[in-house]
Amino acid sequence: MKATPIAILLCFYLLSAVADEEETHLRTLKQAFHDDFLIGAAIEKLLFEEGARPTLKLVPTQFNSISSCNMLKWSPFNPKPEVYDHRAADAYVAFGTKHNMYVVGHVLFWHNQTPEWVFRDVDSKQLDRSALLERMRERVRLLATRYGSKIEAWDVVNEAIEGNGHLRNSTWTQIIGKDFIEQAFRIAHDELPTDVELLYNDYSMTGPKKRDAVVRMILELKQRGVRIDGVGMQGHWSINGPALADIEASIVAFSQAGVEVHITELDIDVLPRQPGMHGADVAKQLEQDEAMDPYRDGLQAEMQQRLAQRYADIFQLFLKHREKIKRVAFWGTTDNHSWLNNWPIKGRTSYPLLFDRNGAPKPAFHAVIGLKAPEDAADDPAPTVIHD
Ligand code: XIL
Repeated sequence: MKATPIAILLCFYLLSAVADEEETHLRTLKQAFHDDFLIGAAIEKLLFEEGARPTLKLVPTQFNSISSCNMLKWSPFNPKPEVYDHRAADAYVAFGTKHNMYVVGHVLFWHNQTPEWVFRDVDSKQLDRSALLERMRERVRLLATRYGSKIEAWDVVNEAIEGNGHLRNSTWTQIIGKDFIEQAFRIAHDELPTDVELLYNDYSMTGPKKRDAVVRMILELKQRGVRIDGVGMQGHWSINGPALADIEASIVAFSQAGVEVHITELDIDVLPRQPGMHGADVAKQLEQDEAMDPYRDGLQAEMQQRLAQRYADIFQLFLKHREKIKRVAFWGTTDNHSWLNNWPIKGRTSYPLLFDRNGAPKPAFHAVIGLKAPEDAADDPAPTVIHD
């Protein structure tokens, strides 16, 4: 049989249609946002265990950045003086290096998950300022020696500013004083390789008082010659809030203050929250209550759709500001590996991520991956006014 030109054209058409189909089918998050920002996930120690293989496999396929969930926090890493558990952290860094990922260290200094011994001497007496600063330096020096530039960015300070814009009262500030954040960044800069990026990370960064306080903090640090490269907006958000306009105002304000914006711990909760339970204060835990766990048997299509739309709206905003955003990272991989199954209430069934409990992409994944970056980013809103 002779191949007519029409038959040949038809063949080409069918082959390219199949190729297109495969391409969309195979598109992963890191491919979809390759030209826009890094796309990350926090991974926990558990993922290196045998039973979590499929979830671990998902990580380098979909993401090009990882955050250390608990592994590098002071308590898990160095629970007692001279006692270190670096096996998990070593595996984490080796995994990121092997897969050529942007590896994030979380976190150098935080008021949670820091053992009490850190603040005391051998006789249990509280340390003074200079002894505590020295202890902070020792921690960073050890991490710098062990991981160097393999950890490409560190959350230097986590959650040191309150929603009202004031410096959080913590053992850190009680001993060191008002310049705790500045001292932490100075130590990080002195001890870590110069190519390691230094970030300030916090939740509820879309609230105007915290936003203004963080902008002021960045500007003050810069004015005093202290390096800060980026700000992490955690992004523990819900289906209802914060408003896109508030997210946008913070991205713009931080960028205008001269740092790169990282979305560091994104997850979107569909579960009900008690009034006043916004943000992500890990110290808050509420009583178990069946009425607060409405989707134990699965999430209905209507709610899946709402979650997909909310994710799409938020990612569309990120794309609009892709020049300002270095990384968008999720706090977890699949829904069963989310901390929101246990916070603020233990043992709930939560659905905050893009992959379901079997590791399959959810409607929210497809909604996000189908977005297109706008050709021309629309005009930025007017700069935020800094209130005194
Ligand atoms: C959470 C972890 O995911 C939990 O496993 C742990 O029990 C508590 O901390 N903001 C942060 C993270 O900066 O370190 C927190 O991680 C979630 C809120």
